[in-house]
Amino acid sequence: MARTVLARNDDDDGTATDVLVIGGGIIGLAVAWRTAQRGLRVALVDPVPGGGAVQVAGGMLAPVTELQYGEEPLLRLGMASNARYADFTAELEATTGHDTGYRATGTLAVALDADDKAELSELHGFHQRLGLESSWLTGREARRLEPMLAPGVRAGLHVSGDHQVDGRRLAAALVAACEGAGVRVHRAEAVELLIEADRARGVRLSTGGELRAEQLVLAAGPRSHQLPGLPPGLLPAIRPVKGQILRLRIPPLYAPFLSRNVRAVVRGGHLYLVPRANGELVVGATTEEQGYDTTVTAGGVYELLRDAHELVPGITELPLVETSAGLRPGSPDNAPLLGPTALPGLLAATGHYRNGVLLAPVTGDLLAECLAGGTVPELAAAFSPSRFAASPRAASPLAPAPLTGPSTLAGSAR
Ligand code: GLY
Repeated sequence: MARTVLARNDDDDGTATDVLVIGGGIIGLAVAWRTAQRGLRVALVDPVPGGGAVQVAGGMLAPVTELQYGEEPLLRLGMASNARYADFTAELEATTGHDTGYRATGTLAVALDADDKAELSELHGFHQRLGLESSWLTGREARRLEPMLAPGVRAGLHVSGDHQVDGRRLAAALVAACEGAGVRVHRAEAVELLIEADRARGVRLSTGGELRAEQLVLAAGPRSHQLPGLPPGLLPAIRPVKGQILRLRIPPLYAPFLSRNVRAVVRGGHLYLVPRANGELVVGATTEEQGYDTTVTAGGVYELLRDAHELVPGITELPLVETSAGLRPGSPDNAPLLGPTALPGLLAATGHYRNGVLLAPVTGDLLAECLAGGTVPELAAAFSPSRFAASPRAASPLAPAPLTGPSTLAGSAR
């Protein structure tokens, strides 16, 4: 892609803007921050910057333990982002004074019955074939690492490189970093994409004004494809995948309770427990495909507690302090859309599904390179938004819903 000469576009108060990011979830914030650091004049529009799915996410940074067959390109992207995390959070913390809750704890995946053990063993074999670091443990060895695990745990897989971050703190730090880097944050809703001479030029706001820029980045999570004014079929439907999650508190008497992330497959569902340094224990998450619904249900909470109790029986002693639900933005192949779309002037950074928190650093870097450098980095090439162009799915979006709603512009959860 050739570097374009940037014509200045006016913000609503006359300030020149090179790049407008539509959506201030974790992904939009990372893109805005990294792009502003490259010297471009950046604006971001979102009614609640730092909101969306990151407010619910467990914050697992687990490209190895969450590896799925057929997702090797995504693994490469996830590993690249994971490798950037320590520096990304250190830079954020140094520039903003915010703690991001990044913890290099490692992750222990465990099996509770013979079927789980067979699945875990398959995953271990897959890791070995790909040269990924993971160590097989007996049940006794797993319990030695985490004494609160149930006596029935049969086997474990220790992955020393899969860590965690506190999504809420990270989002707050990113909002501060964006403002510190000069990003103009508009707390409003983008209600229409403006196209002139076959090029994306800006958005109309719910408040009635307009924001215009030379380049726009659509980072509106599970509502990305619904922005009025988008040419039909330009983007595939980004489906909302609901996740319910629990937050418990570990009283000092019980600390550390767990020392690292613990994952398990229980009755076919994936369960994870993320112990934070501040005493919070996150238990997640359900995976439900039922539209734009963020209701916390008794059934969802019951299933999470039932499965977590089977894995770590002592959990029932802990105070339950919060239940919440968010929407993961799932693309048709569950991988993100990164880079220029077929509409000149419009780029996408959306569809991160279960990996929004993990992929925030690499997405910020890749989009900043597209925007400021004028080239699509090789790492982003497999995730071009155009890969869906010939797919019938791209032309059959989910039933339209208004852009406004309870969970508006969102990044994605992990
Ligand atoms: N990455 C965890 C989740 O999506 O639930």
